[in-house]
Amino acid sequence: MKADVGLVGLAVMGQNLVLNIARKGYTVAVYNRTAERTKRFIEERVKSEKIVPAYSIEDFVNSLSKPRKIILMVKAGKPVDDMIGELLPYLEKGDLIIDGGNSHYADTDRRLKELAKEGILYLGMGVSGGEYGALHGPSLMPGGTRDAYALVERILMDIAARTEDGPCCTYVGDGSAGHFVKMVHNGIEYSIMQSIAEIYDLMRKGLNLSTEQIGSIFEDWNNGELSSFLMEISSKIMRWNDEETGKPLVELILDKAEQKGTGKWSTQAALDLGVPTFSMAASVFARVVSYYKEERQRLSKLYHKHLTLSESVTIEELEKALSLAYFLSYSQGIWLIHEASKTFNYGIDLLEVLRIWKGGCIIRSKMLDFLIELLKDSQDNLTFLNDEKAQKFVEERLDSAVKVSNFARSLAIPSPAINGCLDYLFSLTTDSLPANLIQAQRDFFGAHTFERIDKPGTFHVEWQPLD
Ligand SMILES: NC(=O)c1ccc[n+]([C@@H]2O[C@H](COP(=O)([O-])OP(=O)(O)OC[C@H]3O[C@@H](n4cnc5c(N)ncnc54)[C@H](OP(=O)(O)O)[C@@H]3O)[C@@H](O)[C@H]2O)c1
Repeated sequence: MKADVGLVGLAVMGQNLVLNIARKGYTVAVYNRTAERTKRFIEERVKSEKIVPAYSIEDFVNSLSKPRKIILMVKAGKPVDDMIGELLPYLEKGDLIIDGGNSHYADTDRRLKELAKEGILYLGMGVSGGEYGALHGPSLMPGGTRDAYALVERILMDIAARTEDGPCCTYVGDGSAGHFVKMVHNGIEYSIMQSIAEIYDLMRKGLNLSTEQIGSIFEDWNNGELSSFLMEISSKIMRWNDEETGKPLVELILDKAEQKGTGKWSTQAALDLGVPTFSMAASVFARVVSYYKEERQRLSKLYHKHLTLSESVTIEELEKALSLAYFLSYSQGIWLIHEASKTFNYGIDLLEVLRIWKGGCIIRSKMLDFLIELLKDSQDNLTFLNDEKAQKFVEERLDSAVKVSNFARSLAIPSPAINGCLDYLFSLTTDSLPANLIQAQRDFFGAHTFERIDKPGTFHVEWQPLD
């Protein structure tokens, strides 16, 4: 009996995905670079599942039914190229490799082209939901050719999370579309996580609420319009006490946030494609600055911020501010995906993207239903803002968000994501920006020319004599 599918890379994601696939009735062959990890996995986690270990690449490939379908769940970057290089000598035309890691989309495009020359099919697939999602049903974002997708569609549909709108998997689009969408998913995730963290900071420092009280509020919010995976886990985190000290664990965790790159890549892509993802970029910088712990400690002793305190805020106003931040984080991400789809000819259906984010993934939330409704009303509504319902939604929350921002500012509490969302909104909804002065400055020092509001054409002024 040959295995239906193979998986390489038995770290947290790989192990759980294998168990998920096997529990759906498929036979899975597994391989990991370090044999010890494979042995431990088989001994400790595999019970009655149909999982076949292999300890050489050759045995692994030979244990698969043809055309072979191999999922890579290895560290992104060079390890993916290394694994492809090791597999290639044993593969035949028509076999399929699926990269389920967080690869950079440009790498996926390159690998697609290289493998097409060898007759090997390739999919770049975003997998969201962490280890729990991988085991119980992730959100899957595969991209590449339709032929390749057709080979594994049934398996992917079977293992994906399910909502009332179907399995959280769709053919996302051509080329690196799947990895691009997963990358932006993570960019949105950065922005929402940072927004929640800023509201938490304001609650503890501005309103003097205890961690437990914040946990209760987050729990309440999770039953309302902020219902989402990230709100749910944040409420649980607030209630988690350290076994050793009995204190809330979150209070004992060092305030230095790590990153693996997808937030940074989203921002880089946004800069390349010209999409103003203010809060996504600010959230990456928030993690960067968090890393300067010693510098922050030193400077915090030097600077005493005697600011005039703004009016305090209510819990309801905080909820509204966070809700607006969620909405605007999705807005930035969907716009970025649309722009990429146009530029790279991905052919992405944005409604499908929103639908497959409804279950399994880290950014799943009740708000996605509202966004789907807005996009269904008008497919051109890429920022969601061109709609009366969106206008009403924003207007009902804007005053609270500004109050929250002012309160945070007056306490010198940084709130880059909340402010990034507000600046994104204000910039997009302002007729007259001061870019006229920027243009004049550019023309002054570099003869870059400018346009005028009162007549067509391109103009330049000799602002100062050259000699
Ligand atoms: N963790 C998450 O929540 C999450 C969520 C979504 C997506 N992802 C993505 O999914 C992928 C797997 O993530 P992970 O957290 O499970 O594991 P990981 O820590 O990113 O990677 C570890 C795995 O990669 C293998 N590996 C590393 N270098 C290799 C090389 N040069 N050749 C062959 N294999 C190599 C390791 O094998 P050895 O045992 O031999 O070291 C191990 O199986 C990553 O791309 C990650 O970004 C992760």
